[in-house]
Amino acid sequence: MSRTVVLVVVAALLSETWGVPLSSGSSPRAANHFPDGFYLGAATAAYQVEGGWNEGGKGESIWDHTLHAQPNLTADGQNGDVAADSYHKYKEDVQLLVGLNANVYRFSLSWPRILPTGDTDNINQAGIDYYNSLINELLANGIQPMVTLYHWDLPQELQKLGGWPNAVIADYFVEYARIAFENFGDRVKLWLTFNEPDMFSNGYSSATALAPGADSPGVADYLLAKAVLLAHARVYRLYDQRFRPTQRGRVGITLNIDWYEPLTSSADDAEASDRQLQFECGLWAHPIFSREGDFPEVVKLRVAANSRKEGRTRSRLPTLSPAEVNLIRGTADFFGINHYSSSLVTSGSSGSEPSKTYDSGVVTSMFEGYPTSFWISDIPWGLRKLLNWLHKSYPGYPFFITENGWSDPPGVLNDTARIHYYRGYLSALLRSINDDGVPVIGYTAWSLLDNLEWMNGYTIKFGLYSVDYDDPERPRTAKASVPVMAQIYKERAVPLEDFENADTTPPS
Ligand SMILES: *[C@@H]1O[C@H](CO)[C@@H](O)[C@H](O)[C@H]1NC(C)=O
Ligand SMILES: *[C@@H]1O[C@H](CO)[C@@H](O)[C@H](O)[C@H]1NC(C)=O
Repeated sequence: MSRTVVLVVVAALLSETWGVPLSSGSSPRAANHFPDGFYLGAATAAYQVEGGWNEGGKGESIWDHTLHAQPNLTADGQNGDVAADSYHKYKEDVQLLVGLNANVYRFSLSWPRILPTGDTDNINQAGIDYYNSLINELLANGIQPMVTLYHWDLPQELQKLGGWPNAVIADYFVEYARIAFENFGDRVKLWLTFNEPDMFSNGYSSATALAPGADSPGVADYLLAKAVLLAHARVYRLYDQRFRPTQRGRVGITLNIDWYEPLTSSADDAEASDRQLQFECGLWAHPIFSREGDFPEVVKLRVAANSRKEGRTRSRLPTLSPAEVNLIRGTADFFGINHYSSSLVTSGSSGSEPSKTYDSGVVTSMFEGYPTSFWISDIPWGLRKLLNWLHKSYPGYPFFITENGWSDPPGVLNDTARIHYYRGYLSALLRSINDDGVPVIGYTAWSLLDNLEWMNGYTIKFGLYSVDYDDPERPRTAKASVPVMAQIYKERAVPLEDFENADTTPPS
């Protein structure tokens, strides 16, 4: 405590004497401005935009397999066979990023495009060539590539082994990552191992939520957690030892984290909020980013207690050995966050037993009185609260907002609700950085393009640019949000009036 006070006093003196800002930027800046070197761009994922599902030697992924076998899993019976056709139109997509004044593009590699069987028996040069072309096109246009290694499209051959709940998949993932670092790491300096493990674990806890639809709630999802954490840690350490000395990039992981506001001011609801955050975020973040490592105590205790009640002789949550705790702890250069919305939370019982939802012992509900679309509420102060909670819980790590965005029904080109959402959330992000001192290094909006929104098919639209899915050419059209974002990205600031009007302070 006292060291902090001294530092603050010294910083204040420096600030008064030499005009050195308290925040870490190299020149003084107004509260509505992003720091120097801040990344601003947009994001996509391979299965959602690429198409070319069987072109250039690509193998089958669990998404190809699942949606071909059960077309009715998506709301419109559609799949990602063609998607936005970015496999052919990547040069045009890079120009869309140029039109946004983006300096970073977050995209994912399709594992079965590079390794059609998931293993190294067939390293598909045409797949490597495709990503080389995309990366080179980005760099030629002054845009940094940010690469997600795993955005949900597991090679189907590895699903035959059980997919992610089988810890052996980590061995395959490490080899795949090595090939990616070897081929792209000279030019790619921002890496994410996994996108939203908490979300894709639903593919193993439900028959219909996501591919592969393995229906094992409260069991497979926890086995997956251990396998994914070990896979992440081993890839981080591989990069650290083999590639970082020459490639000098940064490796992180991206977690989906909403904000959960206690329903009332009771201590019980405060606990419910923390519990929900521990089950959604802490399950993944605590082993990597906390000082002590391992799964959060509350998660371990509750899953063990429910497992006993179910007559089991051991917990459905696997244990991490001391060696595994050490292997996983500290394996990130930054903390990626996909944040969309905030909900209210109270304690109670929901979900079937066994399930992760049941184990968490909370009931969530949507806020009233805020703009809402599908499952998203436009509550900018929720992002600010979340960033402060994360910074306090996991000090020492810079954050990168790798997804944030608003969905519209089809046909909305004058996307005023999206504009409102982005103005608010970018303002809340700036408050977190400049007023609250949370270290955040970048932001990629979800999404560059309207795309295949998983089980929603093409029925809900997250793009800054719309795509006409009735036209085989898949023409792109800028929505009204594009010039607004392009201006913010160019000025590297939210216009003062929008910034001051944004809903960045929680109601007391
Ligand atoms: C979807 O199709 C499968 C067979 O392909 C069928 O078993 C299932 O009942 C269908 N589900 C719905 C909701 O129609
Ligand atoms: C978009 O909608 C807003 C609000 O309804 C309206 O003021 C504006 O004129 C519209 N813009 C276009 C280009 O239609």
